[in-house]
Amino acid sequence: MFDRPEILMTPGPTPVPHFVLEAQAAPLVYHRGPGYGALLDEAVDGIKWLIQTDSDVVVYTSSGSGGMEGAVANTVSAGDKVLVVSVGFFGERFKTICERFGCDVTVIDYEWGNTAKAADVEKALDDDPGITHVFCQHSETSTGVVNDVEPIARAVRARDKLFILDAVSSAGAVDIEMDEWGIDVCIGGSQKALGATPGIAFCAVGPRAWEAHKVSTAPRFYFDWTAYKEAMERPDSESPWTPAISVLQGMVAALRVARDEGREGILERHKLLSRAIKAGVQALGLPLMGEDPERAVVVTAVKNPPGLTDKQIVGLLRSKYGIIVAPGQGPMKGQVFRIGHLGWFEPLDILRFFGALELVLDELGYELTPGAGVAAAEAVFKG
Ligand SMILES: Cc1ncc(COP(=O)(O)O)c(C=O)c1O
Repeated sequence: MFDRPEILMTPGPTPVPHFVLEAQAAPLVYHRGPGYGALLDEAVDGIKWLIQTDSDVVVYTSSGSGGMEGAVANTVSAGDKVLVVSVGFFGERFKTICERFGCDVTVIDYEWGNTAKAADVEKALDDDPGITHVFCQHSETSTGVVNDVEPIARAVRARDKLFILDAVSSAGAVDIEMDEWGIDVCIGGSQKALGATPGIAFCAVGPRAWEAHKVSTAPRFYFDWTAYKEAMERPDSESPWTPAISVLQGMVAALRVARDEGREGILERHKLLSRAIKAGVQALGLPLMGEDPERAVVVTAVKNPPGLTDKQIVGLLRSKYGIIVAPGQGPMKGQVFRIGHLGWFEPLDILRFFGALELVLDELGYELTPGAGVAAAEAVFKG
């Protein structure tokens, strides 16, 4: 029955707009010849603008996890004491990567749905001055929470430790001021707020991270920052290995449109859509999951209504209405469904989503006032 493209309201990948698709479908710019350097330089400049930094930017052909692994592999040595601030699934991933690289890992392990607190990080660092690195998520996509990372970054910098931020699902959706806040490595990706297809991750690498890189002895090859820096410093910037050229073309197109909209515009758009989602969900009597929902402008995690499962809701939304949302992850499986609203959404997408959600919930026997979700979201858009 359904022959229109499905709508990806997942935590990523996100809908790929026509201007990105067209750029990705354009003939390849050969990566060992004229034109590629300008493309890569434009991508790097756009990323610097997006996360407000003058740092170098390493562009990987990988998913976001490659960026996370790159940040570990390039800054640690086996035996280093590191602190992982974990508020969910991706915090656990940082822990695993650090362990695989032989680090001595301390974890601040928050209950899923909670946000990280600067005071806890300060205490952990003061309790063990031997810790040299702190790893943290900005937006923890598994629960939707967005950590207030500015005070955490400042606390880490004040103690002269390295602060490494996973901004894979927040870069382009939530304010990041890498240099001002004291973030040493900031990791992002192509398939989230930028709305290109999956395939590119990046690490913005500040001066202190380069110092750590010089003394780090962890094994690395494909993700070695030195290889990327040397290639970038050729007369025409290059990538050391064959890059995801099409994705890069798409990401540059996205960054151009984003720059036209302006940082303020992008960030405000994400806040507005998130407020509309939360208003609609609450108007349907569904409880939100997670601390500080005002900050959670990337993903909204919603508790399943009693007697219904996320599998049922996710399944019907997709099969009947072509809207893809995500089920719970890890221990949240069976407890929540997650609505992604990062990337190139507009009010009509949100209204359409609530129309579909209401029909699905009604079909599953959940009692609701028809139109309540749509009306509440609309009220937010009307201001
Ligand atoms: C916060 C966060 N970190 C990292 C990743 C990287 O995951 P992947 O390797 O699947 O791109 C994701 C992707 O969902 C994410 O949301």
